[in-house]
Amino acid sequence: MSLPNRILSGLRPTSRMHIGNYKGAIENWVKLQDSGNYECFYTLVDWHALTTHYADPHEIRENMRLIAAEWLACGLDPEKSVIFVQSKVRAHAELHLLFSMLTPVPWLERVPTYKEVMQTLADRDLRTYGFLGYPVLQTADIAVYRASRVPVGEDQVSHIELSREIVRRFNALYGELFPEPQPLLTPVPRIPGTDGRKMSKSVGNVIWLSDTPEAIEKKLLPMVTDPARKTRKDPGNPDVCPVFDLHKAFSPEATRDEVAAGCRSAGIGCIDCKKQLIGHLALQIAPMADKIRAAVDKPSAIDEILEAGAKKANAAAEATMELVRARVFSDRKPSGALPPAE
Ligand code: TRP
Ligand code: SF4
Repeated sequence: MSLPNRILSGLRPTSRMHIGNYKGAIENWVKLQDSGNYECFYTLVDWHALTTHYADPHEIRENMRLIAAEWLACGLDPEKSVIFVQSKVRAHAELHLLFSMLTPVPWLERVPTYKEVMQTLADRDLRTYGFLGYPVLQTADIAVYRASRVPVGEDQVSHIELSREIVRRFNALYGELFPEPQPLLTPVPRIPGTDGRKMSKSVGNVIWLSDTPEAIEKKLLPMVTDPARKTRKDPGNPDVCPVFDLHKAFSPEATRDEVAAGCRSAGIGCIDCKKQLIGHLALQIAPMADKIRAAVDKPSAIDEILEAGAKKANAAAEATMELVRARVFSDRKPSGALPPAE
């Protein structure tokens, strides 16, 4: 009954992709796709983006094609993976509604990201029903394909735990139908922004996947380093330097060892160190940036890929929903004993 090799993951299309999205998610999605071990569903979750951006949906709309082009440029392959836009598969909304019937509100209020995001986005009114239900919709995204594995970063683990509780409650009430999804943890290297803080569009410290080598250089040369290295003669500590975090993610090991030693002995300066990083980063980003530009020039090709993806996703989701409807609206009384809701 379960589909053990099906995986689903998604990203919110609130901005184009940066190097953190690539290292933290998409690179791993491509690996899973290419491993041949999984049936992969990857979705642009525009309804999730609406939970925080309902007042400016045009921002989401404008991003969709570009982001799809970026995913393709990173190596996601529509021949191997189902790539689609969430709102084109209405079954996510139907299952979200049914799950919302049986999800206790205290479960949702307890999810740590609920208060965290509300505080981070204090300029938006997030005291909405939809925002509270964010993880219920996420559960529907996964369960509508009966996916059992969800590649995500550590920050999403609490959501997947909640997903397990929701499907467990459904299964207890209406009979076993959904596998309990497990996170497939992506080892996410720390990818700080150019000011050393979390990379974020609103802070303006982002390196985009579509940045040219010149843009990368302009952003990285002034990047913050170990504050103890005030002058070229002061030795530094790579372990506390955000530039070195990027080396760990993008430079080959030999370069990494060499700059770390040079930093500790004050054998190299920060500018030399950054120039090496710029070289390696540009080497990886430039081919993708070229592909992104080429793909964006053919919007109808992107639209076709997304349409074909939605068609496949709809077929899979509809098959699940037929089973779900038969369970929820069956003639027999639900016999399952409901687990306690607190
Ligand atoms: N909440 C996820 C994030 O912010 C995005 C997401 C929505 C997702 N639905 C999903 C991730 C389903 C994995 C599976 O990154
Ligand atoms: Fe950071 Fe490199 Fe400077 Fe060391 S040499 S402080 S790792 S930028």
